[in-house]
Amino acid sequence: MKKRTSILSLAVTSLLAAAMIAGCGTGNQPQTGAGQGQPAGQGQAGEKKTLIMATSADYKPYEYHDLTSGKDEIVGFDIDIAKYIANELGYEVQVTDMNFDGLVPALQTNRADFVMAGMTPTPERQKNAEFSDIYYDAKNTLVSKKESNITKPEQLAGKKIAVQLGSIQEEAAKEMSKTVQGLQVTSLNKLGEIVEEVKTGRVDAAIIEDHVAKSFVESNPGLQFTTLETDETNGSAIAFPKGSPHVAKFNEVIKKMKENGEMDKLIQKWFAQ
Ligand code: ARG
Repeated sequence: MKKRTSILSLAVTSLLAAAMIAGCGTGNQPQTGAGQGQPAGQGQAGEKKTLIMATSADYKPYEYHDLTSGKDEIVGFDIDIAKYIANELGYEVQVTDMNFDGLVPALQTNRADFVMAGMTPTPERQKNAEFSDIYYDAKNTLVSKKESNITKPEQLAGKKIAVQLGSIQEEAAKEMSKTVQGLQVTSLNKLGEIVEEVKTGRVDAAIIEDHVAKSFVESNPGLQFTTLETDETNGSAIAFPKGSPHVAKFNEVIKKMKENGEMDKLIQKWFAQ
């Protein structure tokens, strides 16, 4: 009896040891999360795999909630590009909406396969994420009430400005506050809140990218926007987790879309007057 037990335990021990060696030997630890296309039920033979795209759907016409069809749907330029690319590469896209400042962290923790949010590749972000080639350009503008006549940063001394938390507009506003005396910067999560603050007069202006500013001003006739003259162009690119296997393939499709007219078609669809 005693003997049998020890043979059994020896067998178990060596099996365990073998399993551990095998596990370590591959040098390729299995990853969990979206990075491996893990959403439930995906990845069976013949079935399309799903990529999770994270965005901040407050950025018309890049991405926003469309309620006109009676159901709540996230649509826009970025969504169309994502769907086109995914389709070319044999994936489905699942869009998940979050606050803008949560997007890069979502990549870092593998909760998303990629981010499209009109996001500009900055050196800071490049430390934590990888970016595709740039697919569209934007410039910063100052949004204010028409009656305020505010069109230049110099007019903002002692005033309040709103920007999106974690955006390059937040950085621009902080930079501005170094030269514009007494400028107070308010950082908020969603563009809708920022525009609301301007409309109610709780802040005097906001920094918003041109295409998005234009869309907000169209639906709020009391507002105006002026391009910030000295501002450089901000490109939008797709962000991925560091070391993502998707970057090169996505870049190939972006290139193809620029060459075959698909990108121009989508620009026309979402940005034309
Ligand atoms: N381009 C700016 C940035 O990268 C703003 C992007 C905001 N995008 C959004 N979906 N709210 O910081």
